[in-house]
Amino acid sequence: MSHERRTSVLADHADRLAGTHLRELLKDAARGNQLRHRVGPILLDLSRQKLDAAALEALGAHVEASGWQAARDAMFAGAPINTSEQRAVLHTALRANGSSLPSPAPAEVLKEIDGALRRIDALVHAVGLGDASAFGIAPGITDVVNIGIGGSDLGPRLAVRALAPYHVPGLRSHFLTNVDGQSAYELMQQLDPKRTLVVVVSKTFTTQETLLNGNVMRDWISRAYGGDASAVSRHFLAVSANVAAAEKWGVPAAQVYPMWDFVGGRFSLWSAVGLSLALAVGSYHFHALLKGAALIDDHFRMAPWQENLPVLLSLVEVWNRNVHGRASRAVVPYADLLTDLTSYLQQLEMESLGKQVTARGAAVAQATSPVVWGSVGTNAQHAYFQSLHQGTDVVPLEFIGVVKPAHHLAENHDALLSNLLAQAAALALGKTFDEALAEATLGTEEERRVLAAQRTFPGDRPSTVLLLDALTPETLGALIALYEHKVFMLGHLWDINAFDQWGVELGKSIARQILPALDGSAPDTTAFDSATRALIEVIHQRRQAQGEHER
Ligand code: F6P
Repeated sequence: MSHERRTSVLADHADRLAGTHLRELLKDAARGNQLRHRVGPILLDLSRQKLDAAALEALGAHVEASGWQAARDAMFAGAPINTSEQRAVLHTALRANGSSLPSPAPAEVLKEIDGALRRIDALVHAVGLGDASAFGIAPGITDVVNIGIGGSDLGPRLAVRALAPYHVPGLRSHFLTNVDGQSAYELMQQLDPKRTLVVVVSKTFTTQETLLNGNVMRDWISRAYGGDASAVSRHFLAVSANVAAAEKWGVPAAQVYPMWDFVGGRFSLWSAVGLSLALAVGSYHFHALLKGAALIDDHFRMAPWQENLPVLLSLVEVWNRNVHGRASRAVVPYADLLTDLTSYLQQLEMESLGKQVTARGAAVAQATSPVVWGSVGTNAQHAYFQSLHQGTDVVPLEFIGVVKPAHHLAENHDALLSNLLAQAAALALGKTFDEALAEATLGTEEERRVLAAQRTFPGDRPSTVLLLDALTPETLGALIALYEHKVFMLGHLWDINAFDQWGVELGKSIARQILPALDGSAPDTTAFDSATRALIEVIHQRRQAQGEHER
């Protein structure tokens, strides 16, 4: 069946279901058998998606016709599927140790990864014992600052916060990301330079934000040692695929931990990019995270599409994005510990899937990445849920809940979970005009009807629930790997390269051209467009008005 024919079959199913409210679909309790699946500590509940058995079968036929198993196996085996950069995509090899299946990744890659993991373990062990001098590190470290951006920040940031209950005592973690000097300034106010270990994470070691922040921290530590370079270097580690650049910048080679071209930045938490996390939670928990991810790798490799969580998640995205035209998806974790999940997923999904041409340069046949957004519940309920319930756009939601909290405040936790369940139910079921009218008891008939119209909820709004048994290193690893493989599947189904990110380059190069016009080293702005020129002019004028000496 051609792509067009399959797409029109899916559209026919959507049309057929258009007249059946989710309230009706949910009367069939048996739909849970097909739409609710568990892998280890994660339950995926798709029963509130606007699907039935026949529509799901059609989606299954779509994925089965796509050759997804061969594409998946090629990734695991290290084929150069990132074709625009001629690179393999082997983040799964980083956690192959935890897998119960033999890894098809090249043996030399597995060996290198093993070597890097051993180095990380040894370092973390030494820091834990309070003496990492053999690793070039100063004694008495109390604070670790991870400097990095994008994939060199979001994964470790998410995991360090999510696993706060597992932190080793005596070591605090900080993240320095934005080039806005405010964050560096605040950190320097707060920390003792002689007790701070800075981990500069940059795959390329060319990223402007990271290098600028690195320079600021290096100057700060250098001042504390009166400029003694050998003392300063004892406060720095680097993680990079560009060892030469890290060394040139000032980190001794023995203190540079590896990254590789075969691991994309946004897929790199499992490598030395996770060093800040490993330092925060210790090696045992870091390996547990890898094991959790490997559990999903094995599941992704073995399960048929009907039970394969990443495949099902990708099919639901195809359903909502391509068949129903939903332009965004909200991710709402009901767990403060998962505060950073949404921004992590923004990069993972939108940098991977925000593409408009195929790997062969042709226009894509369908819409690609939706906008991913969201924040933690219940806070989100008191901010934008009004619009999700009664606004004119339908936004599919993803709720993430945790059954067992990491604290003893059971009353809070029951309230939290009841809100999650209530929101998913309210979005699906809604409230009819007649139900709202029956509740309106005051006023004239006309007044009651006006009020009821405003208190009607259309419902029929789709959501997914992911329920974790507990937020442990294993479940966090499994959750992230689940999303990684969903992204892989969508790249495959949408026929795009999910592993490059050319779209971030243009703005970077224009910023490089604008910088000299702002710092005064090349004030000629005639090459810029009129809007950019005007704003540069305003900045200069306002600076003059404020007195340049304040800069
Ligand atoms: O600008 C996008 C990006 O290249 C991301 O893909 C990457 O995660 C981030 O910048 C940081 O890059 P690096 O690790 O090379 O500093």
